[in-house]
Amino acid sequence: MEYCAGNNRYETMKYNRIPNSGLKLPAMALGMWHNFGSTSSYENAKEIALKSFDHGITHFDLANNYGPVPGSAEETIGKLLKEELHSYRDELIISTKAGYGMWDGPYGDGGSRKYLTASLDQSLKRLNLDYVDIFYHHRPDPETPLRETMETLVDLVKAGKALYIGLSNYNPQQLAEAEKILEELGSRCVIHQHRYSMLDRSNKALNPVLEKSGIGSIAFCPLAQGLLTDRYLKGIPADSRAAGSSVFLKTSEITPEYLALANQLNELAKERNQSLAQMALAYALKDGKLTSVILGASRFSQVEENLGALKNLEFTEDELEKIEQLLG
Ligand SMILES: NC(=O)c1ccc[n+]([C@@H]2O[C@H](COP(=O)([O-])OP(=O)(O)OC[C@H]3O[C@@H](n4cnc5c(N)ncnc54)[C@H](OP(=O)(O)O)[C@@H]3O)[C@@H](O)[C@H]2O)c1
Repeated sequence: MEYCAGNNRYETMKYNRIPNSGLKLPAMALGMWHNFGSTSSYENAKEIALKSFDHGITHFDLANNYGPVPGSAEETIGKLLKEELHSYRDELIISTKAGYGMWDGPYGDGGSRKYLTASLDQSLKRLNLDYVDIFYHHRPDPETPLRETMETLVDLVKAGKALYIGLSNYNPQQLAEAEKILEELGSRCVIHQHRYSMLDRSNKALNPVLEKSGIGSIAFCPLAQGLLTDRYLKGIPADSRAAGSSVFLKTSEITPEYLALANQLNELAKERNQSLAQMALAYALKDGKLTSVILGASRFSQVEENLGALKNLEFTEDELEKIEQLLG
């Protein structure tokens, strides 16, 4: 049966405007780094994506290399866009990226004109799209002149293959320099994507540049890949990311120190009538510094729980003090 999006999909989501831009993003986006590749269940990926859209999650975040195998998460979304979501294309923000190693040889990695142009063409084919909404340079490339990377991003927008430019994993100096070049070229970076969660607040150092240049900001791994949920409080489930083959989260990270902290945060969350995941997401979104957070999920019930965070983004002084003491 043909998919028909939920009638109430715009009733509960918050949409935040990127400073000085026409673009609004949902406070929560859905990321396809895990669980959308060809080794995962297509039916499960479809359920997560479509039900998320039914709840107002209009932004799907991809990259050329998401899988496994690399490229296959874009193929999954490409299939969904063709078979289920074709009539909703204009209600969706599809972002993708290039910057990490994608294919063999000297042209499949970095920030060169050759790599970024070829990679976006490949992404568009996999996604069954004529354009993506946001195209990111995934990480800075110290070997390519920044101007070449920025000129390429501007040209890809001019060619109609992307609507907006994003940058990811740039440090404050690199971001300021990139933005200066983009301005000289008559363009701009609309959004920067970086890691941010209660457990890793180091990227707060980007805030002065983001604020000065009016660049939006979107956080990845806002739940520290599951560490800021109740997933590991009673052991390591066999179907969890830590127990799987991910090189990014290992069982060795579930230490007694981590568990002590997570349990105390969980108690605090309960006092707020939230789950730990909901409190962690509310904490990330509380002061409006972030335009959006990108959720990862292995099943829709996790997204559903996480959406509940939007009901209470306020923290009392007392709660903030307790959190500060715990996070140290
Ligand atoms: N720009 C970059 O360099 C970069 C880097 C990394 C990620 N990203 C983007 O950020 C997105 C999100 O990253 P992420 O997946 O690490 O995000 P995350 O939200 O920190 O972690 C998601 C994982 O946490 C667990 N989880 C989520 N909600 C839960 C809940 N309510 N209860 C229990 N467990 C829950 C699930 O793990 P289980 O699998 O164990 O169920 C889920 O797969 C990616 O998909 C990608 O789009 C970008």
